[in-house]
Amino acid sequence: MSDGHIRLNRFEQRVVAQADEILSRMTLDEKVGQMNQLDPRWNREIDKLVRQSKVGSVLSIRSVSEINRLQRVAVEETRLGIPLLVGNDVIHGYRTIFPIPLAESCTWDPDLVERAARIAADEAAASGTDWIFAPMVDICRDPRWGRIAEGAGEDPTLGQAMARARVRGFQADGLAGERRIAACPKHYVAYGAAEAGKDYNTVDISERTLRDVFLPPFWAAIDEGAASIMSAFNEISGIPASANPFTLREVLRQEWDFEGVVLSDYNAVGELVAHGFAADLREAALRAVLAGIDMDMMGHAFPEHLVALVEEGAVPLSLVDDAVRRILCLKIALGLFERPYTDEGLEAQFILREDHRHAALDVARKSIVLLKNEGPILPLRTTKIALIGPLADDRAAPLGCWHCEGRPEDVETVLDGIRAVRPGCAVEFVEGCTVADDALDQVEDAVRAARQAEAAVLVLGENERMSGEARSRAYLGLPGRQQELLEAVVASGTPVVCVLMSGRPLVIPWMAEHVPAIVQAWHGGIRAGRAVADILFGEVNPSGKLTASFPRTVGQIPVYYGHKSTGRPFLGEGTVQFEQAYRSNYIDESNRPLYPFGYGLSYTTFAYKDLNVETPVVGMEDTLVVSATVTNEGELPGDEVVQLYVQDLVGSVTRPVKELKGFERLSLAAGESASVRFEVPISELGFHGLVLEYGVEAGAFKVWIGPDAESGLEAAFTVSAG
Ligand code: GLC
Repeated sequence: MSDGHIRLNRFEQRVVAQADEILSRMTLDEKVGQMNQLDPRWNREIDKLVRQSKVGSVLSIRSVSEINRLQRVAVEETRLGIPLLVGNDVIHGYRTIFPIPLAESCTWDPDLVERAARIAADEAAASGTDWIFAPMVDICRDPRWGRIAEGAGEDPTLGQAMARARVRGFQADGLAGERRIAACPKHYVAYGAAEAGKDYNTVDISERTLRDVFLPPFWAAIDEGAASIMSAFNEISGIPASANPFTLREVLRQEWDFEGVVLSDYNAVGELVAHGFAADLREAALRAVLAGIDMDMMGHAFPEHLVALVEEGAVPLSLVDDAVRRILCLKIALGLFERPYTDEGLEAQFILREDHRHAALDVARKSIVLLKNEGPILPLRTTKIALIGPLADDRAAPLGCWHCEGRPEDVETVLDGIRAVRPGCAVEFVEGCTVADDALDQVEDAVRAARQAEAAVLVLGENERMSGEARSRAYLGLPGRQQELLEAVVASGTPVVCVLMSGRPLVIPWMAEHVPAIVQAWHGGIRAGRAVADILFGEVNPSGKLTASFPRTVGQIPVYYGHKSTGRPFLGEGTVQFEQAYRSNYIDESNRPLYPFGYGLSYTTFAYKDLNVETPVVGMEDTLVVSATVTNEGELPGDEVVQLYVQDLVGSVTRPVKELKGFERLSLAAGESASVRFEVPISELGFHGLVLEYGVEAGAFKVWIGPDAESGLEAAFTVSAG
């Protein structure tokens, strides 16, 4: 869908020359000032600091008039008139709030995700933002981590596709007022691997896992032209990500030749002291700038110590010049020197525009995953419904964990949606309980309402403050008294449909066993309620597919499809001792997730047949070509996300039992068949082998085409060295 986007990490010579000309006139104080990003909410003297050329960028201002006012101070009241970079967390929409990124990724529709990012960029640009602190591209296999909500799930291939789509959307050409937006993929790197799913916690992984799992989405974002990178809070095997020469210089600058800006996360430089990696703020500034941080977000380390560190020779002036050159190149490439101010009339043309609201509905519809549908009870045919649950008419939860300028009054709740889609439907709404505490007890009334209805729709899950940053959870069931409410309503005997709103996969074994239909609606943005109603009544056929596995229990975590075989794989093999096989499994739980990666049901059924490996033997420089036929065998049209997986059976190092290597969204009319054909360059089957060099190794492979990571048609092919 891309109608052209701007690459902002490679600069024409004229841009570099202009930056060098400005640099040549800057004092050391002014240079260090450019490397400082402040949050005006916590700096009352922001005007004075800007006027003193001590600030290069600000964040979290979203008033156009205030942005223009502060920009005038920078441009008209400082010696060199260098404009500020204005950054904001526009993670899943600016004012038109889309489903959370994890939900968006369940659309498996990069073009749609790009459009959503483009809309967010238009609204942000119209409001004076130049720098979007997104996409968040952290791979995560641990739903205890609240920030799983912000990413694209557990898989590097899907993560790369979503990273590319979002960078293209954010850095689209021709944004509002001809302004430009810089993307900032984050959090570099491996933040999603925090031990025990506890935010900001230690990350201790091998370089091979770093390179094969966590780095690829960052590479994809940079390859797509992302202007900057944000370094993470966590350490990586002993060395904090915001002062890590290996990731920040060796990988980012030397291997990837990245010329964009590296921004630290919020006080991540200052936190080097708490990490025990710096004795004081001076040493934190030293270690961060030597490692490769260009701009210090709210760490106060650079502004307080960098001038002295350069003057005493501890930091080469060239490092500072390189950082400031990158910052100036970005400002020039964004056009800030020509157009530092934002037309204050732009917002009225872009904010919450009808086409934006419709796009939010489209994404919400396609992000919803139908997890179960016995009967089938869905689509609902009844017109006498008990709508129950603390999230059924909640206007805040659908905005999710990063709601930017989103407002509850913009949100359509499930109750609103049902009334809009089935105005003739008799709906009795009973909240039943609160999301997280026992402040409300309407369980009996909810049971009564259920008994008097023909179907009970329960909308349960998490509110918007239970996922996102600093929102790790050790228990992943329904918070508060929701489980009690659920069981009481199920006991009423009325057929129950559960709609789950959450920022993560929840642990719902009782619900999975006792409730005939389960719809995973995530935090679905301002159109969430309408999208849920469209799905419940069959106006839309659900098509979302999971991008993060649902555990059966917290004890299984991390549970993900791309795991290793082990020497005693659960699938049959294992050394027999005492008349039983000793294998890698639990004695009290299955190894399998409750719902696997790639899984999602439809109101129709799709059949897969005629898997054909057109290239049974394929050379290192060739392309694997595999096809299959997919048929919509039901009576309803529907979309199916067809997935391609491979397994490298033997390697110089162990390999995952499955790896996603392709996917395609098909729209099929009832009875329609389509051939789906995947062409995968063999180079994409590579990994970092014994000596950590990326490459493909000859040998036997398996290949699957199917509807999710646990099923599909299987075949084999060989990669030949000759
Ligand atoms: C936060 C987050 C980061 C965000 C930044 C600015 O702590 O970690 O994702 O962009 O600070 O708000």
